[in-house]
Amino acid sequence: MDPKLAAAKAALKYVRSGYVVGVGSGSTALMFLTELAKAIKGGELSGVRLIATSTETEYEIVRLGLGDLLRYPWQVGHIDVAVDGADEVDRGRNLIKGGGGALTREKIIDYWASEFIVIVDESKLVDKVPSTHPIPVEVVPYAWPLVKARLEGDYGGSAELRYSSGKRGPVITDNGNYIIDYKPKSMIDPREGERIIKCIPGIVEVGLFSGLKVTKVIVGKRDGSVNEF
Ligand code: A5P
Repeated sequence: MDPKLAAAKAALKYVRSGYVVGVGSGSTALMFLTELAKAIKGGELSGVRLIATSTETEYEIVRLGLGDLLRYPWQVGHIDVAVDGADEVDRGRNLIKGGGGALTREKIIDYWASEFIVIVDESKLVDKVPSTHPIPVEVVPYAWPLVKARLEGDYGGSAELRYSSGKRGPVITDNGNYIIDYKPKSMIDPREGERIIKCIPGIVEVGLFSGLKVTKVIVGKRDGSVNEF
């Protein structure tokens, strides 16, 4: 079995009828959404409402025939559980997120939820976050050269504006901003790094997620089993 699917299936047990569910972004979160759709259509879950963390997830909710369940933050007073993927996870449950550029809405929803469940395959486990992945930082376009200079000047390493194929120029997020991928020169503490980087003017959000906010990490394996911590 695809290890991401194993983790996605295992996360279903954290959803109850009547819950407001934050649905993450990325391939693993969309597998969870597909499993959730099956459970709703099969009648195992009822009264569920969904909050999307990206336009991709929003479209997918509609494509799966669940558009009537889609809600926006101003329509709900709380979120019971959020289920989301990650680019890196360590044993302290600290995360790097934002490989897909959705980190800001993800953090709003994931941190707001009463329970935040992270679903990953084994390849995402690292000794200490941040490891090999750069830290995505969403930045107001006007400020990006200053943010780049500040990150590189104050903390060393390299901060690069994110580009992708399919459009000339920088990647533009769902919020109309740019993404800078930051690789620190030396090891930084993820919780301290989240706090410090977030304080730089022009930065909207940073893709370091504190393990203190994570309820459970579910790691899917190739044999279909999962490990939770
Ligand atoms: C989206 O911006 C990210 O935070 C994703 O949640 C993360 O990149 C994990 O994606 P995959 O599940 O596709 O690996």
